Amino acid sequence: MTENVLLFASSKGGVGKSTVALGLARALAAEGRRVLLADFDFCSPCLDLLCGVEDHVLYTVSDLAQEKCSVENALLRPYETQELYLLPAVQEDLLPANGVGRSMSSELNALLGSAVQKAAEQIQADFVLLDTGAGVSTGLEAAAAIARSAVIVAGHTPASIRAAGRSGQRLQTCGVTDVRLVINPFDVQGAGVKKSVRHSMLEIMDGTGLLLLGVVPYDYALTLEQEGHGAAGEAAPALRNIARRLLGQTIPLFSGLPKIRKRKRTLFR
Ligand SMILES: Nc1ncnc2c1ncn2[C@@H]1O[C@H](COP(=O)(O)OP(=O)(O)OP(=O)(O)O)[C@@H](O)[C@H]1O
Ligand SMILES: [Mg+2]
Repeated sequence: MTENVLLFASSKGGVGKSTVALGLARALAAEGRRVLLADFDFCSPCLDLLCGVEDHVLYTVSDLAQEKCSVENALLRPYETQELYLLPAVQEDLLPANGVGRSMSSELNALLGSAVQKAAEQIQADFVLLDTGAGVSTGLEAAAAIARSAVIVAGHTPASIRAAGRSGQRLQTCGVTDVRLVINPFDVQGAGVKKSVRHSMLEIMDGTGLLLLGVVPYDYALTLEQEGHGAAGEAAPALRNIARRLLGQTIPLFSGLPKIRKRKRTLFR
């Protein structure tokens, strides 16, 4: 399997883990890479909805792990022109029958790992992205056993900054040592004014203690796109920048975002 296996995490809910995971999967696919995107949020899976393929989900990562279906049956290809394959999950997939929230057995983690490996090998994935849920979830535990790197998502709120720092530390103790930060959604208007009360990029980096991989601005068009209308705005070039960094390219923080670049000085306070 490819060495490029990344999980997306934060113990704080609603910070944009799934949005960033899907956005990066699409951006990597747009760069010509073959991407496997697996939903490891077994409490509140949503990638099928965000991709608009919820009516096509017949089998899930759980079925594949239990050998109830083939890789072909389990994978969905939401965007015709892209080599992006989704391995979906459904609500309460894989939760142990004896109680929600109990830790998954290492045996189950191994089954999930081999399911992801099988799917990744079949499509010859260049990248495998694992979207995990909030909290210390069963999916996070399973993803940490597979992934080599992690992307932690945090915004301006103190709660998301604290959660990001702790999530990073927890992952490092689980052996995922390459942990990087994506600031999302970044409030350019609010953080870029004199005497701003919002946490700056530097404060967010300092508060989380994580290395910065990229910054995704708040983008109303992105939320509409997720509801099936139109296309993302400024989030799209920001996600493309992050994808290119993952491909080893050196890309300025706000490349392709001239309006934000103009305000750079105020943003780096
Ligand atoms: N850059 C952005 N600009 C505008 N809205 C965003 C941005 N990123 C995320 N959002 C919005 O924030 C909400 C939460 O995003 P998302 O579902 O990706 O978070 P999450 O961390 O995966 O949540 P959960 O913890 O439930 O898994 C969504 O409505 C999404 O549209
Ligand atoms: Mg999510």
